[in-house]
Amino acid sequence: MPRPKECISCMYPASCANCLLPEYHPGFQARVSITANSKENLTMSCADHKDYHDEELDPCCLFDTYVGADKSISKKELLEDPLRFLYKLFSSGSVKGETLINISIGASLFENFVAIDFFKDIIVLESSDCCMKALESWLRNEPGAVEQSHVVEFVCSLKGQSTECKKQEEKTRRAIKRVVKWDITNENPLGEVVLPQADCIVTTYYLELVSKDHDMYINLLKKLLSLVKIGGHLVMVALINISYYMVGQHKFAALKYNEDFIQKALMEAGCSILSSDTHKSKFESPLCDYESIAHFVCRKDRAV
Ligand SMILES: C[S@@+](CC[C@H](N)C(=O)[O-])C[C@H]1O[C@@H](n2cnc3c(N)ncnc32)[C@H](O)[C@@H]1O
Repeated sequence: MPRPKECISCMYPASCANCLLPEYHPGFQARVSITANSKENLTMSCADHKDYHDEELDPCCLFDTYVGADKSISKKELLEDPLRFLYKLFSSGSVKGETLINISIGASLFENFVAIDFFKDIIVLESSDCCMKALESWLRNEPGAVEQSHVVEFVCSLKGQSTECKKQEEKTRRAIKRVVKWDITNENPLGEVVLPQADCIVTTYYLELVSKDHDMYINLLKKLLSLVKIGGHLVMVALINISYYMVGQHKFAALKYNEDFIQKALMEAGCSILSSDTHKSKFESPLCDYESIAHFVCRKDRAV
């Protein structure tokens, strides 16, 4: 079921008085414009971190705000460019195998629409109950699930098979064998669950959005890499120098870092970087403040 079109910031009806981004309210536009002061308010400190208050997260809102079908620049940067990168990488044959683990935030599955043509089994990790529910709802093809058909259409256009979207969608549903709870508030985020060692892990916009500091980032990176075989690959799409992002009326803090930090972290976690590139952002919006998007292809050389 399509979601009603409301304020693109808070997704509440245009009468919402608390929205931090009134300029996005059609009803407010004539009377209120974003002020210098309200822009300052969007710069947050770590003390404002949401600390896993994910009951405030609406996965459909997260998806629609940045990569919904009606978006342009953010959809290109955050969805289409990474999909093109993944398609090019996997079709080169340099990264392949049986099992792929995918971890991202929210209820987006976009990497998997590409990966299914190159891996047999996909395991998705997620923590929030609301996002797990949203993912499972999409897997069961239920009405009201996050609308991802424009993503599938884009992937099929990359493959030059624009008429095969339904098949690609069904193939993705079959390839995603499990959605597994991954809770980083536990020392062992998988709990009792034991997963097969993966050939590849694909992570997009994850570690920078859940880590509270650089040590936590490195620690989580090591935990993710422990799920991959030696010789297997880590493919990472990361937001560089992001400090916050909005989901509806809620502001979430992110961990700010540059490419140097990621490179050191990857090496410390036992990887070698096979390739990397960075793309400067053209998305100028009070919704978030990332400066660029980096793509990394790494090989796990050793267990740490
Ligand atoms: C909007 S982000 C919030 C990030 C961060 N938790 C915060 O509160 O600022 C929501 C995503 O963070 C990830 N996440 C939140 N809590 C988590 C947890 N306890 N363990 C692992 N991932 C978590 C999930 O992927 C979820 O979809």
